Amino acid sequence: MNSRSTRPRQREGTNPAPPVHIRWMIRRDLSDVLRTEMASFEYAWSEEDFLRCLRQRHCIGMVAEQGESIVGFMIYELQKSCLHLLNFAVHPSARRTGIGTQMIQRLIQKMEAHRRRAITLLVRERNLTAQLFFRKMGFQAVRLLRHYYPDTGEDAYQMEYRALSTANDTPELSLSNRISSYESD
Ligand SMILES: CC(C)(COP(=O)(O)OP(=O)(O)OC[C@H]1O[C@@H](n2cnc3c(N)ncnc32)[C@H](O)[C@@H]1OP(=O)(O)O)[C@@H](O)C(=O)NCCC(=O)NCCS
Repeated sequence: MNSRSTRPRQREGTNPAPPVHIRWMIRRDLSDVLRTEMASFEYAWSEEDFLRCLRQRHCIGMVAEQGESIVGFMIYELQKSCLHLLNFAVHPSARRTGIGTQMIQRLIQKMEAHRRRAITLLVRERNLTAQLFFRKMGFQAVRLLRHYYPDTGEDAYQMEYRALSTANDTPELSLSNRISSYESD
């Protein structure tokens, strides 16, 4: 299946998962968002971190809702030339069903709607799952930031998704990546 398909995946013989609805985050989503955050990261953002971030004019929060539950969230910042993904997670119980894919596809649509040409993010060197996920989504590792995280001293990879320019400047989406060059080193 094409990695850009929006259709949720389903294992044979299982009931179809309820469709995922991706919408703006509102204040009362925060307790569910915090639950996913705590279940996802060793060094998790606090409620105050979320609020401080979302009070910024250029920060936007979105959630993925499945039935009555919030199963994922993302927070991104509108920068001059790109969207920068600041925080992003899917609840462990809902992973590997295509929800993360649908959220990033939505972010790619936002990039185009905001007339930005790229999405950037930083990922911890030990977070192989996220690196594999973003590579599948068409992101490339473009920069290594040595000892970026003060808590563990880990390096960060800067990953980037870039819309290709064409002669008539119609946005086209890049499928290539360069993270494999880090893997083979
Ligand atoms: C990264 C994350 C958001 C992915 O969300 P998800 O909903 O599980 O992702 P999807 O189901 O859309 O996966 C798409 C593809 O990514 C890759 N992928 C996702 N999780 C993977 C894993 N644990 N191992 C290997 N590949 C993985 C696979 O290629 C997968 O396709 P497949 O299931 O057909 O093999 C989720 O694992 C997560 O919340 N992790 C913890 C928080 C985090 O690390 N956030 C990113 C910070 S930079």
